[in-house]
Amino acid sequence: MPIVVVVGGQWGDEGKGRIVDLLARKARVVARYSAGNNAGHTIVNERGEFKLHLVPAGIFYPDKTCVIGNGVAVDPEVLLEEIDDLQSKGIDTSKLVLSDRAQLIMPWHIALDRLDEDSRGEHAIGTTGKGVGPCFVDKVARRGIRVADLLRAEDLIPRVRTALDYANRVITGVYGGEPIAFDDCLARYVEFGQRLAPYIGDVQAIVLGAHRQGAHVLLEGAQGSLLDLDHGTYPYVTSSVPSSSSGGAALGVGIGPTDIQRVVGVFKSYCTRVGNGPFPTELFDETAATLRDHGKEFGRGEYGTTTGRPRRIGWLDAVAARYSVRFNGLSALALTRLDVLDNLPTIKICTGYELDGQLIETLPARESVLDRVHPIYEELPGWMEPTTEVRNFDDLPEQAQAFVKRVEKLLECPVDLISVGPSREQAVIVNPIF
Ligand code: GDP
Ligand code: IMO
Ligand code: MG
Repeated sequence: MPIVVVVGGQWGDEGKGRIVDLLARKARVVARYSAGNNAGHTIVNERGEFKLHLVPAGIFYPDKTCVIGNGVAVDPEVLLEEIDDLQSKGIDTSKLVLSDRAQLIMPWHIALDRLDEDSRGEHAIGTTGKGVGPCFVDKVARRGIRVADLLRAEDLIPRVRTALDYANRVITGVYGGEPIAFDDCLARYVEFGQRLAPYIGDVQAIVLGAHRQGAHVLLEGAQGSLLDLDHGTYPYVTSSVPSSSSGGAALGVGIGPTDIQRVVGVFKSYCTRVGNGPFPTELFDETAATLRDHGKEFGRGEYGTTTGRPRRIGWLDAVAARYSVRFNGLSALALTRLDVLDNLPTIKICTGYELDGQLIETLPARESVLDRVHPIYEELPGWMEPTTEVRNFDDLPEQAQAFVKRVEKLLECPVDLISVGPSREQAVIVNPIF
């Protein structure tokens, strides 16, 4: 039975949580494999509306095991708050498992994230400020503190001492910031460890065990592929590997690449980005405002789930999207927020870039080039009627069908699922993914 990865195809916030919530119905295990609480996944279902930062979007089904993989950077305080919040709303979290190999976000990571951003001035990345980047820096520097270390104070104490000593030297010496006190930090993390202990377990055994017994497994990506450390718009990227390429998904839960059968890329029907960095199809006109504020009256406009920042808006960029399809090895697309385009008389898709009279059809690596390219647009007629109640492809307005077909052609990948609203049932399943 398949292990299916759900990965963001653009710059994040494509609707991964919403798609996982839908697909999880048929899965036994749902696993987050990367990033940290820089992610914000919105789920709207019969239990209510939820914004998840660390807990996988399968949590609303009491029979599913939800795991947080070794590839995730976990802020224990945020995780405990999220668990408390879910429990207070009647959601059962007893089948949540946290990998003992996951890295912990420590107070100095949050401090360093902010200090580093400030020091970059106008070249700031625009991070979420959650300490995720510095946590991955410590992981690679082999100074990181892992969930397993929380289980015994004897393991935790020397690790915190060494890492905090180093961090304080950087905080005070490099940035002129305030040092972090060892005793407070240790006491808090000892307590987090006691509270999280019942959730800590062997994630690989759960994922592979389910797979070998023939159950479906979903691997939930965070962020978007264009924020990928290797393939994204570097340096304006995140510090982990959100894509499924380079084995990001397999690595993050401890399985091999051949265990994964399908990779579904979630794409918005247009584009958004929060934070800084190149965005060739970005719009600054009325259309941007209209798309950003669609559903704003219900708190569902294009504003960051984690930080509340207004999202930058642009037309669908098929050059960047096709690049993402290729390096992720996508088997299918899930196209979201089609309904947001319902009232537009004309819809544009960027099919190439022009620079100094030259046509560019792949995403350039250099920021200085990406900043100067001019998108070449194809215009499609809008459908000017609501799609939110549509559940079959053939019932979509003809122009909406043509838009989807064009996306498939330009991205070189079939659209298996179309989302026409934030709620679980607002979907058109073209080809069942499980
Ligand atoms: P994620 O980070 O990829 O899970 O996406 P976010 O939750 O950050 O942002 C996606 C937003 O779009 C959320 O507010 C979702 O509720 C909403 N959403 C998802 N799919 C659809 C859709 O098809 N139509 C509409 N109108 N909203 C959607
Ligand atoms: P989900 O899972 C959108 C962006 C930040 C910033 C860059 C680096 O909800 O799609 P970081 O805090 O990771 O060091 O910031 O990455 N970013 C996201 N943008 N959605 C996300 O997650 C993001 N996670 C990080 O805005 O540009
Ligand atoms: Mg999000």
